[in-house]
Amino acid sequence: MAARGLGLLTSLPLRAQRSQVQRPLRRLLSCPGTVAAALGTEEQSSGSAETGSEDGAPKKRFSEVQKERREQAQRTVLIHCPNKISEKKFLKYLSQHGSINNHFFYESFGLYAVVEFSQKESVASLQKVTRTPSLGTEAAIPFRSRYFNLKLKTPLNQTSEQSSIQCRNQSSPSSKKLFELLCCAESVDDQLNTLLREFQLTEENTKLRYLTCSLIEDVAAAYFPDCTVRPFGSSVNSFGKLGCDLDMFLDLDEIEKFGTHKASGNFLMEFQVKNVPSERIATQKILSVIGECLEHFGPGCVGVQKILNARCPLVRFSHQASGFQCDLTANNRIALKSSELLYIYGALDSRVRALVFSIRCWARAHSLTSSIPGAWITNFSLTVMVIFFLQRRSPPILPTLDYLKTLADAEDKCLIEGHNCTFVRDFNRIKPSGNAETLELLLKEFFEYFGNFAFNKNSINIRQGREQNKPESSPLHIQNPFETSLNISKNVSQSQLQKFIDLARESAWILHQEDKDRLSPSNNQPWGLAALLLPSVANSMSLAKKKKKTSSERIKNLLESIKSSSTENSTATNG
Ligand code: GTP
Ligand code: MG
Repeated sequence: MAARGLGLLTSLPLRAQRSQVQRPLRRLLSCPGTVAAALGTEEQSSGSAETGSEDGAPKKRFSEVQKERREQAQRTVLIHCPNKISEKKFLKYLSQHGSINNHFFYESFGLYAVVEFSQKESVASLQKVTRTPSLGTEAAIPFRSRYFNLKLKTPLNQTSEQSSIQCRNQSSPSSKKLFELLCCAESVDDQLNTLLREFQLTEENTKLRYLTCSLIEDVAAAYFPDCTVRPFGSSVNSFGKLGCDLDMFLDLDEIEKFGTHKASGNFLMEFQVKNVPSERIATQKILSVIGECLEHFGPGCVGVQKILNARCPLVRFSHQASGFQCDLTANNRIALKSSELLYIYGALDSRVRALVFSIRCWARAHSLTSSIPGAWITNFSLTVMVIFFLQRRSPPILPTLDYLKTLADAEDKCLIEGHNCTFVRDFNRIKPSGNAETLELLLKEFFEYFGNFAFNKNSINIRQGREQNKPESSPLHIQNPFETSLNISKNVSQSQLQKFIDLARESAWILHQEDKDRLSPSNNQPWGLAALLLPSVANSMSLAKKKKKTSSERIKNLLESIKSSSTENSTATNG
């Protein structure tokens, strides 16, 4: 985006040029050295690596990325290390089992190493020489996984032996650091790109996510030897923020595919199986045993909860070593396809991810989204809203889903449970947009667009890229891209929607005010995106309406959210 922004400067309207040019001088003067240094030590991100982007690298297809990373994860081990360790000796010791492609360390209540061997056989060789610990009074379940514990026979005492181990950061920057970075940015566009750079998943974090899925797959394989556990959702759709949950999908369909090869001549062999009345019950039973298995045998899997009566049954648990909150589902192929669609949209134009990250952070900063389920809008819905908004620009920045379907070839055809999920998967067949609007303009217009959207009568539809009459009375209606009769934001209450609208209007107003004040800037004031993200700033916003909002009204909103969330939960449980 940076290169694109510079290239575009000459062709931008005067007002936009001013916003790009005027800010650097005053911002750079007040930029503390520490922050500049922090900017210099930026980690490699997985988002740009996989979706191509700025450096013109080829964009990889979603299936290619998944295949490569999965194969990489199968050659990788996770090792809990003593805090004092010689990196050189550690690597030398492991190299006895085969060459190491790469490795990194990270901290999460202890020191961990992720080591990727060149060959899968090296993992088996390491497992061969690994013992099951004897625990004195307790008994160990002898599960031989790829998650190890390294002990030193004699502790290191010579400091010369210890190389200083560099740990890769797995968390997003603190609000303070983010605020500093944003205030030092050169323009609003730069702010949005900075936020993206700081929050997106790093290469290491992505590796850790695929490795965690692979470790869970090993546990599930105890029952279903040829199963696959695939990540989906924000871990892979290119919109994941450091610290986001890890959505996993237990795929048993691969097993079916093996079966089809085995038919020969006039004979057809079938397994003797148990039958249950529906797919849903089969999914619940499968997840139930995998949940038990994770709880009893899964190294590092704690707090296992089986949420089997939800619309989409799942097993939720924490993977202690990686620090990920995991949701394991089965029979959820459409969600995987939605992740692929978002991945494509994220890769089509470099402004998409920057805008989505900022809107997601803005929503989080104002408690419009939450990590607990309830009447709030979800990150998934917000992403679809941004995509819709970008389809509505003139000329459009993103194509409609129907258009992506017309570009599909025979290989792209995809039908899941009777739903047509076909769209083109080859980026090269999609023409880039001719729209050159700045991120600053898009951010402002996003807030204006949704601050004035006729939510009471219109539905958001990315398949057609235009508003449609709402088919039902939910306050917010966003059509599910593939299961078109469903609303992905059915849970959102009127009061939460109203809060979103109010904040969108206020944010548009702040950005407009800044435009007016641009010629007489007051230094040391949060500006642009920083002004929109800081809750303290939001609270002190000068809109009289906000001030008038009484505490009783806020309590009423909270009660309404709780009420609709409990109705949701009971519907889910009953369902
Ligand atoms: P985070 O908040 O960062 O976890 O974003 P996310 O995109 O991973 O969302 P979440 O974990 O809630 O859901 C994971 C994936 O499930 C999403 O990316 C979607 O593909 C899918 N999904 C989530 N909510 C819905 C929904 O209401 N309907 C449908 N069809 N799919 C959903
Ligand atoms: Mg998620």
